[in-house]
Amino acid sequence: MDDEALKGPGGEEGRMVAPFSFSSLRFVNLASGLWPEVLSRFFSALPQADARLNALGESLVDEVRQSTLSFHAGIVYPAGGGLLGLLGGYLVLDEVEIHTFFLHPDWRKKGIGSFMMKSFLSGCHSSGVSEVHLEVRSKNPARELYSRLGFRESGIRKGYYGPQWSPDGQSDDAILMVYTTGKTVDLPNPGESLMACLTGGSG
Ligand SMILES: CC(C)(COP(=O)(O)OP(=O)(O)OC[C@H]1O[C@@H](n2cnc3c(N)ncnc32)[C@H](O)[C@@H]1OP(=O)(O)O)[C@@H](O)C(=O)NCCC(=O)NCCS
Repeated sequence: MDDEALKGPGGEEGRMVAPFSFSSLRFVNLASGLWPEVLSRFFSALPQADARLNALGESLVDEVRQSTLSFHAGIVYPAGGGLLGLLGGYLVLDEVEIHTFFLHPDWRKKGIGSFMMKSFLSGCHSSGVSEVHLEVRSKNPARELYSRLGFRESGIRKGYYGPQWSPDGQSDDAILMVYTTGKTVDLPNPGESLMACLTGGSG
């Protein structure tokens, strides 16, 4: 998947955009340095519906700044894109619970989310994490993405999401999913660097 040429945001309107390559993507620890301020600006600039549906705002920035239990990795495209998205969650003993997985709308459907999640799962595998858990709205297309990456469905919470959490304004079920790290998946590579950025505070 590396080095695939892709259009960046704005390409659809015919503006000149530098070629995009996966090998240019970098992970950062959002708790380090000035990244919490960058994250705050990133959230403020999002379309309101995106921010609301994904609970992205100042309370999450506060958690990034203060929490010792959670981790938050940002994905950055240095050549002009800045912060593209984030993956966050909790590490408890040898299990991870993902609570946030989000890419800016301009950068979706280019394989970046898969790249980030695969990198994260690879890092979990090599760091001794045994299981990665998450939950997803039953109608969220990301459910298909998780299945493709090797997550299996482990439970359902009927009507867990109220209408305010769904783009169509309807209540929805939560699907619980789990990834067991012993499983073999097609892992590209830089999981090590994603984990290293979280534990080493690079940024
Ligand atoms: C989920 C998310 C991080 C995935 O990142 P991404 O870079 O768009 O995903 P990829 O390009 O690697 O993979 C795309 C696949 O994911 C699924 N998918 C995820 N979100 C989708 C969307 N909004 N529309 C269509 N397909 C979507 C599809 O299976 C798609 O496969 P396809 O291209 O063959 O149709 C991103 O779409 C996003 O930020 N969505 C909004 C926030 C969200 O719902 N997060 C998940 C919470 S559980």
